[in-house]
Amino acid sequence: MRSMIVAIDETCGIGKGGVTPWHFKEDMQFFAKTTKDLPCIMGRKTYEEIFSKMGVRDNLLPGRKCIVLSRSNTLVVSGATVCQYPEEALKFAGHSEKFVIGGGEIYRLMLEHMDKVYVTKVPGDYDCDTHITDVIDTIESEFFQTTEYTSEKTGLKYCTYIRK
Ligand SMILES: NC(=O)c1ccc[n+]([C@@H]2O[C@H](COP(=O)([O-])OP(=O)(O)OC[C@H]3O[C@@H](n4cnc5c(N)ncnc54)[C@H](OP(=O)(O)O)[C@@H]3O)[C@@H](O)[C@H]2O)c1
Repeated sequence: MRSMIVAIDETCGIGKGGVTPWHFKEDMQFFAKTTKDLPCIMGRKTYEEIFSKMGVRDNLLPGRKCIVLSRSNTLVVSGATVCQYPEEALKFAGHSEKFVIGGGEIYRLMLEHMDKVYVTKVPGDYDCDTHITDVIDTIESEFFQTTEYTSEKTGLKYCTYIRK
């Protein structure tokens, strides 16, 4: 299973100034539980965001093999393996289930390879500078929504989609 996981605001925004402009512990826990022990593929800019939060460690996201997509053939990063091509990243992930965790360029690049998508819908407009409206439109036309749960505590809506 190849899955994507993303949180969007009401404008399909996902980030601002290289970071995610909201912080919901509940969604962080959902991310941690959903991706637990599974390989995670991310873009170089998302790697930098996570690295700046997590600091130097053997593994960027504990328990998860991390793969960074970059066009550079000389980039070496701490706590993750760099791949230059989507197919190479998916092959290196190796595990039967793997996750694409962002950001915008990588969601766009990898959507065609995905079987399942987890979308957390965050109420409000966070004035984002990175949007994935086109990706969400494609998900809504090429995938079935299978589950939807709204948290009474935060108002976050957790949706899952499976490819038609
Ligand atoms: N809300 C969420 O769920 C969520 C999740 C993740 C990230 N984000 C946010 O998303 C934003 C970052 O997204 P972004 O779109 O700017 O960057 P990104 O997708 O994280 O990374 C972009 C980088 O990926 C590499 N790349 C792109 N296309 C490639 C290709 N065809 N082959 C190989 N490598 C390729 C390039 O790295 P090189 O420049 O090194 O070549 C490019 O600069 C941040 O604000 C972050 O907070 C939000």
